[in-house]
Amino acid sequence: MKAQVVRQLGGIESLQLEEVASPAVRGGQVKVEVEAVGLNFPDLLMIQGLYQFKPDLPFSPGAEACGRVIEIGEGVTDVAVGDRVMAVNMAGAMAEHFLAHEYNTFRIPDDLTAEKAAALSMTYGTTYHALVDRARLEEGETLLVTGASGGVGTAAIQIGKALGARVIAAVSTDAKAQVAASLGADATVNYGTGSLKDEVKELTEGKGADVVYEPVGGDIFLQTLRCVAWEGRILVIGFASGKIPSAPMNLPLLKGSSIIGVFWGGFTRRDPTKNRANFTQILAWAADGTIDPHISETFPFDEAKEALSQLANRTATGKVVLLL
Ligand SMILES: NC(=O)c1ccc[n+]([C@@H]2O[C@H](COP(=O)([O-])OP(=O)(O)OC[C@H]3O[C@@H](n4cnc5c(N)ncnc54)[C@H](OP(=O)(O)O)[C@@H]3O)[C@@H](O)[C@H]2O)c1
Repeated sequence: MKAQVVRQLGGIESLQLEEVASPAVRGGQVKVEVEAVGLNFPDLLMIQGLYQFKPDLPFSPGAEACGRVIEIGEGVTDVAVGDRVMAVNMAGAMAEHFLAHEYNTFRIPDDLTAEKAAALSMTYGTTYHALVDRARLEEGETLLVTGASGGVGTAAIQIGKALGARVIAAVSTDAKAQVAASLGADATVNYGTGSLKDEVKELTEGKGADVVYEPVGGDIFLQTLRCVAWEGRILVIGFASGKIPSAPMNLPLLKGSSIIGVFWGGFTRRDPTKNRANFTQILAWAADGTIDPHISETFPFDEAKEALSQLANRTATGKVVLLL
């Protein structure tokens, strides 16, 4: 089968298109013939050896795909050969055949396109878990989303609106603010030109945001400590800026606020039943149009390097998808 392979950790240039053997299915696993692959920031980190999960070399990156089940391992009962599914694993999706655990494989309706289905797992799964399970976001609360035009950010705008929140989308350019507004954000802040802290305070009449969804890190995270509301919740999603911040802990003390870690991959392994219930809601929302993944660009499979560059150089909005 064709696969994008990393033999040596490094930049995107270390990816090579190769002919390799199809992976063997183990108990509890599902083999999917891939139609489309959704790209995510962690793919970039893994290729560089900077992600918390470090697969043995050589490996194929890629954490989510849509396709048809062609083989199931012992004990698999939730999906069958021939089912059309979306599937998630830490790596391996940038290949014609992708292995995922049964608990992270979800049957999808025939009218959901492959590119949309490949863009629904990681970002919406993470965001639903963050906003519902971790922050317990309530209707009428104000949700601040940073990096709001990115993969998880666009999912947070849409799920925040679905849950009845007022969404403030914070981004680095006016063009990205337009994307965020088109996806339903009630207000936008450009932290490329203005102060995130001051503008959020102004938009909330001094109160601050009840919940902050924060995938950027660095100085942006530090500013959110100062514009979160009394007893607000800050969700630590990631560090796309490359900077893991250290928080002055007097700020959460003075605001009675909480800093809440979110690790969706860990959650799916520890509580697969709850994760499956979350995806029942996500797929219902996708079916009735409440959520709709924003895909800025699709690329043919052999242009994986160009596709990943869109994430690395900060030009992608929403999702970038590879089509096989
Ligand atoms: N906790 C979890 O379970 C979980 C799950 C999935 C992803 N994540 C994390 O969430 C973060 C975002 O992932 P994603 O797939 O949504 O990425 P993405 O689509 O590339 O979006 C990241 C956003 O971060 C902002 N950004 C700021 N500095 C950047 C830089 N130096 N390079 C690239 N982007 C930068 C960009 O928005 P602006 O230009 O507007 O600032 C960009 O839109 C990553 O850190 C990822 O590891 C965490």
